[in-house]
Amino acid sequence: MVIDMKAEDVKNVTVLGAGLMGHGITQSFAQAGYNVVMVDIKDKFVQKGLGDIKWSLGKFLEKGRISQEDHDATLKRISTTTDRDAAVKNADIIVEAIPEILSLKQEVFADIEAKAPKNAILATNTSSLPITDIATATKHPEKVVGMHFFSPVVRMNIVEIIKGEKTSDAAAKVIYALTEKMGKEPVMCNKDVPGFIANGIQMFPLNFVGQLVDSGEFTPEEIDSATTMKLGLPMGTFGLLDFVGIDVVYNVLKFMTTRIPGMKMAKCLEEKMEKGELGAKTGKGFYEHPGNRWQRPTVWSQELADKFDPQMVVVVGINRAAELVADGVASPADIDKTMKLGFNQPVGTLELADSLGIDAVVKKLEFVAKEYNDFYVPHPLLKKMVKEGKLGMKAKEGFFTY
Ligand SMILES: NC(=O)c1ccc[n+]([C@@H]2O[C@H](COP(=O)([O-])OP(=O)(O)OC[C@H]3O[C@@H](n4cnc5c(N)ncnc54)[C@H](O)[C@@H]3O)[C@@H](O)[C@H]2O)c1
Repeated sequence: MVIDMKAEDVKNVTVLGAGLMGHGITQSFAQAGYNVVMVDIKDKFVQKGLGDIKWSLGKFLEKGRISQEDHDATLKRISTTTDRDAAVKNADIIVEAIPEILSLKQEVFADIEAKAPKNAILATNTSSLPITDIATATKHPEKVVGMHFFSPVVRMNIVEIIKGEKTSDAAAKVIYALTEKMGKEPVMCNKDVPGFIANGIQMFPLNFVGQLVDSGEFTPEEIDSATTMKLGLPMGTFGLLDFVGIDVVYNVLKFMTTRIPGMKMAKCLEEKMEKGELGAKTGKGFYEHPGNRWQRPTVWSQELADKFDPQMVVVVGINRAAELVADGVASPADIDKTMKLGFNQPVGTLELADSLGIDAVVKKLEFVAKEYNDFYVPHPLLKKMVKEGKLGMKAKEGFFTY
């Protein structure tokens, strides 16, 4: 069917799920002036979500970031219910933020499509499920779009807009423009690839450092001493895994390894899962975190840092980013925007590639592939760039021009 809606036509938004993401998405839409209905399956979940919104808006007010009028008007624009049929009846856009279970999402999408206005666009906030698979449950997969917010939604401005195999350009464009109207920063992910842009890149180095530990040649302490002291990553890599939760990363990786040929999960992550050592929240992950609060390990040192070359971690991420560019998944500019806003990186992944020199990146990847894991052979795009003299900043042309 033809999508004949424009972002300007959107007035009513329905958000499914009042949990961590759903309440933040609801608040962000309402603060941008939209009427939002927030739905959950039980009143206690709806009330918890609404309470979280009130708390957050109160903080905004306290800090002088919104006026009392804005605060009150935002709350007025939000209504809540457990009656999903009624909630979707007049929706222009529905954003789903319910648990990450494919069958559940499919069931809900089939049902809401039947009950929402014909023109309504159906967006999903899934972090890892294929948009294409969710859309198969609908009669009109062309109006199903990925709209991937980051947590905490009210503070994180980046939103990945993902096209499933059948998503129409028109539907993706409405969601893109709507994201801009919300005051957030959309990036277009043109293909339904595992992990989309942000996780799709970030998971590669995180898995790779695990594989280096599996090899027995390096310890988490050595790798993190180098990644914190030489690269300036505030938590290092294993420290980050402990902070985020090893189970969270494991689940995304598990899914990526089933969909990306040749990609294998690091064994040490599987072992941590088996032992239930999931990071700060369990008091132990790769490091100890007394009181279940993340603590910076005291063992990191310059001496340990000297045992590991952290550029190996960097080039593995660059290689994956190059693959996304080559496959037409995202533009270099959108990739760097995603990595900077999504992970607080001071420099974009591809800008970094340009500053290191594409020839140096290729050399290092060849070394990594030969010495550690041939899954990381340099992507043909990088080799082509070297051949064509597009070596990055020093050649005034690489992924960007200078
Ligand atoms: N947590 C994150 O950092 C994060 C980031 C980006 C995307 N996501 C994705 O967002 C989605 C939601 O994650 P979350 O962390 O907010 O989960 P959550 O568990 O905090 O919230 C999910 C909510 O959905 C409700 N729910 C269940 N079935 C429902 C139904 N049929 N209709 C309406 N509500 C229903 C639950 O009661 C719960 O309140 C998942 O797909 C997740 O992968 C999560």
